[in-house]
Amino acid sequence: MAVSSHEDAVRAELVRLAASLFQRGYSVGSAGNISAKVEDGILMTPTNSCLGFLDAARIAKLDPAGNHLSGDKPSKEVFLHQAFYETRPEAGAVVHLHSTHATALSCLADLDPEDTIPPITPYVVMRVGRVPLLPYVRPGDPAMGDLVRARGGRNAAVLLANHGPVVSGPDLLSAVYAAEELEETAKLLVLLRGQTVRHLTGEQVADLARVFKLKS
Ligand code: 13P
Repeated sequence: MAVSSHEDAVRAELVRLAASLFQRGYSVGSAGNISAKVEDGILMTPTNSCLGFLDAARIAKLDPAGNHLSGDKPSKEVFLHQAFYETRPEAGAVVHLHSTHATALSCLADLDPEDTIPPITPYVVMRVGRVPLLPYVRPGDPAMGDLVRARGGRNAAVLLANHGPVVSGPDLLSAVYAAEELEETAKLLVLLRGQTVRHLTGEQVADLARVFKLKS
């Protein structure tokens, strides 16, 4: 199959960023999966692959309808990734991790399901936005796609209950940066639990949205 130089570049970028996430402990074992749009479909990490050791040539390729075209069998979370692309036309990449602190938050029984990551710093507002909690379903359940679609594309990121974060972005690098920002903020929230925290005010959040032209 002829592969465009753009697709080659996206494959290489995916391998590089996934390895970087793995090396810095954002994923362990074969946890997590990443996808990115290319001209004629979607590239996706293979199921049971380790983000630290991907092979660019074996990354799964799907057509826009989600049919497997080439490479190894795609992640079982294909429904999750597709639902982001369907509901957020601006999404060019999706990153799902089991990063420690975001996953810890996703297990808390008293989390606000509409606002799991409150605005405690400007960067989480700028890079991630509001993050709802989606109810637990087992990994790979197509119902995960329905839960994402039910949000109507309003959120760039979600937390999957008792599972972990999912973050979309216009391209791979932005999605990875946003996933890192979400994890870092989750870490702060875990560190600050039980303490009186000063949140950014509605006015401060609105000011960020205006100045940085934020969508969600
Ligand atoms: P895959 O190995 O199928 O991508 O699944 C890993 C995972 O993180 C499930 O949520």
